[in-house]
Amino acid sequence: MGFPVFLLQVTSHNESSDPRLILLLLIKMINKSRGKILGVLALFLVMVWYSIYREDRYTQLFYFPVQENNKTTCPLGEVEKKAAQLIGNYTRDHPLFLQLKDYFWVKTPSLYELPYGTKGSEDVLLHLLSITHHSLPESIQSLKCRRCAVVGNGPRLRNSSMGDTINSYDVVIRLNNAPVHGYEQDVGTKTTMRLFYPESAHFDPRAENNPDTLLVLVPFKPSDFQWMEAILNDKKRVRKGFWKQPPLIWDAKPEQVRVLNPYYMEVTAAKLLNLPMKQPRKVKQKPTTGLLAITLALHFCDLVHIAGFGYPDSANKKQTIHYYEQITLKSMAGSEHNVSHEAVAIKRMLELGLVKNLTYF
Ligand SMILES: *[C@@H]1O[C@H](CO)[C@@H](O)[C@H](O)[C@H]1NC(C)=O
Ligand SMILES: *[C@@H]1O[C@H](CO)[C@@H](O)[C@H](O)[C@H]1NC(C)=O
Ligand SMILES: *[C@@H]1O[C@H](CO)[C@@H](O)[C@H](O)[C@H]1NC(C)=O
Ligand SMILES: *[C@@H]1O[C@H](CO)[C@@H](O)[C@H](O)[C@H]1NC(C)=O
Ligand SMILES: *[C@@H]1O[C@H](CO)[C@@H](O)[C@H](O)[C@H]1NC(C)=O
Repeated sequence: MGFPVFLLQVTSHNESSDPRLILLLLIKMINKSRGKILGVLALFLVMVWYSIYREDRYTQLFYFPVQENNKTTCPLGEVEKKAAQLIGNYTRDHPLFLQLKDYFWVKTPSLYELPYGTKGSEDVLLHLLSITHHSLPESIQSLKCRRCAVVGNGPRLRNSSMGDTINSYDVVIRLNNAPVHGYEQDVGTKTTMRLFYPESAHFDPRAENNPDTLLVLVPFKPSDFQWMEAILNDKKRVRKGFWKQPPLIWDAKPEQVRVLNPYYMEVTAAKLLNLPMKQPRKVKQKPTTGLLAITLALHFCDLVHIAGFGYPDSANKKQTIHYYEQITLKSMAGSEHNVSHEAVAIKRMLELGLVKNLTYF
């Protein structure tokens, strides 16, 4: 008799009483020996029907609307947990921006010189930090969830139509002199922070930023502090010590200006790129502003999405590397950046789910 085996299978699903009731009726019918072949056929039909019925329920469960990382949900603590897996001694205890009080009486002097510390630059910092501010604006400070988008300058933003998506983040970080005018559809218009250094500063800081954009100086060398201080205090400009002439007139309010804590450059170099902090003169390698911006975001955001990152294949000599200008990888040859090394670091973050890409990386 094959029936008991069938019955066992069906009832053991134990999902709902409906199918079992029907089965019981069937069993009665079969017991009345209406013909065993008919019974087997009926049971088989019930099995098929039941499995379809179950499938339906399963499908419904599976397609229940999944909550996205949108304005109603926040993956609180997730970035910290994952960042700690990637970054040794990860902590959110370091201030984002340098502040004056740390340079009056230097209690624990910085271990490194620029770009990884402020050793030897204390005097100029006293002058510079007395006019700039160091706070994160209340509008960001008070957010329950800080959703951040770091917008790289890569060519994949071209025709991406990502503008509205980028604008929807709480914090949008942009880099260097990347324009928004004329590219609104693809890169958006919102700029919460812009990271730059003198040689990469836009000549008109009002043109491509919002009135409340934080203009964050990334110091690579002592003359970067001097440049900023001379401009904000309208002193005689320093012309030496730059690899490209930075703006001599630069119309920004000191309250908008921040000086990035070199700690984040140190973390980027030492922990994400495994670069030695003290490099011999010849093999100097420094993180790009882009990777630095991602590192910074990992230290104060609850969600980090990146757009416009990724360089073209190094074999592709004609492919441009920025969405807004016609320069190619060749122009990076003389720089102290290693973009393939950085690509490995970013891929690791993507694989770990620590950051998500909005454009193909
Ligand atoms: C955001 O999540 C809510 C709740 O899960 C959902 O109803 C809404 O459609 C989502 N919005 C977007 C833009 O994905
Ligand atoms: C973490 O900090 C300790 C103490 O400062 C240090 O000895 C150790 O090397 C650090 N680990 C990493 C991965 O940086
Ligand atoms: C972007 O779109 C415009 C118009 O549709 C087209 O002419 C142009 O070639 C596209 N550019 C890229 C880089 O795909
Ligand atoms: C750049 O990084 C890659 C991968 O880490 C490495 O193989 C290569 O030697 C580096 N190039 C330079 C010029 O240091
Ligand atoms: C992001 O990059 C990953 C590979 O790193 C790729 O599989 C995925 O399709 C990309 N996402 C988008 C939206 O381009």
